[in-house]
Amino acid sequence: MDKAIIVRNLRKVYEGGVVAVDDVSFEVERGEIFGFLGPNGAGKTTTINILTTLIPPTSGEAYVGGYKVGDQDDKIRKAIGLVPQELTADDELTGWENIYLQGSLYGLSRSEIRREGEELLEMVGLEEAADRLVRTYSGGMRRRLELVMGLIHKPDILFLDEPTLGLDVQTRAQLWNHIRRVRSEYDMTIFMTTHYMDEADKLCDRIAIIDHGRIKAIGTPEELKRMVEGDLVIIRTVNGSPLEVSLDGIPGLKDYTIDGSEIRVRVEEGEKATPAIIESLVSKGYRIRSVELVRPSLEQVFLTLTGRSIREEEALDTISYRVMMRRRRG
Ligand SMILES: Nc1ncnc2c1ncn2[C@@H]1O[C@H](COP(=O)(O)OP(=O)(O)OP(=O)(O)O)[C@@H](O)[C@H]1O
Ligand SMILES: [Mg+2]
Repeated sequence: MDKAIIVRNLRKVYEGGVVAVDDVSFEVERGEIFGFLGPNGAGKTTTINILTTLIPPTSGEAYVGGYKVGDQDDKIRKAIGLVPQELTADDELTGWENIYLQGSLYGLSRSEIRREGEELLEMVGLEEAADRLVRTYSGGMRRRLELVMGLIHKPDILFLDEPTLGLDVQTRAQLWNHIRRVRSEYDMTIFMTTHYMDEADKLCDRIAIIDHGRIKAIGTPEELKRMVEGDLVIIRTVNGSPLEVSLDGIPGLKDYTIDGSEIRVRVEEGEKATPAIIESLVSKGYRIRSVELVRPSLEQVFLTLTGRSIREEEALDTISYRVMMRRRRG
């Protein structure tokens, strides 16, 4: 089986009747970074927990690394790594001690753990801190240590549940780089969840937007953004209102408006249409002052698909995460 993950009609109903995952189907290619994007309670962690064999589905089927969830769980556990949403590293141990503990759970020898651990710690820039107690780590350092722990047995498929939850913008961007390197250097498939639009947009090859347990759309970030309204090309002229322009034959033209010296043209793909729009303007004697290409954001996509914004929930989540971290340190 050449797909890294296959999920068909997956459903999870918790005791008490909460439908957390509702008829979800998707496939993840090998070597892909595939993202589940959705707000609090969308069913992201539940899906990860099923795929990593931590909880059974109510119905439907799933294959991970070619193995069937429920039938070949031991094989799946060896083939995957998991960095859970609730961090697992022990505060009262050092980074290295946590790594040894994790490696020994997979039956690795001390020397194997040492060798792999050194390489991974260097990759995420944590060599210096590895002998310190985890309780002295920053949020970003903890996340990097968890990444090393999830990778110590060289899994084929890595599951990351909200890998940058509660981190500041710069630390998040650094982690994205580490995740990209993990994928390219270890030729790994990565399944991750997030409720950060920018994270899904910049890091994932493909995204499934999930809300209330259902997948609303799947595609590359570009494809998803194209679903809403297409690109907007805004051109300003130097010499007056471009009323004479003819936009017949512009590829992917949807509509346009003219406001003073500005023409706003909505098209399917900005790159394809922009040269033709400029040509039409120039052929009618208009000179160009500026050209701007505005792409729809994932935020707009989410709003269109679900009728809600993800933002307020994002803020709440960050607060609850901080409270949780404080308790852990408490
Ligand atoms: N053990 C459980 N028992 C009952 N309901 C649960 C359980 N775990 C999760 N749920 C419910 O299932 C739904 C999906 O939860 P899940 O944790 O999968 O969402 P999520 O997308 O990971 O959310 P978050 O962004 O907050 O991590 C929610 O309504 C949640 O309250
Ligand atoms: Mg979750």
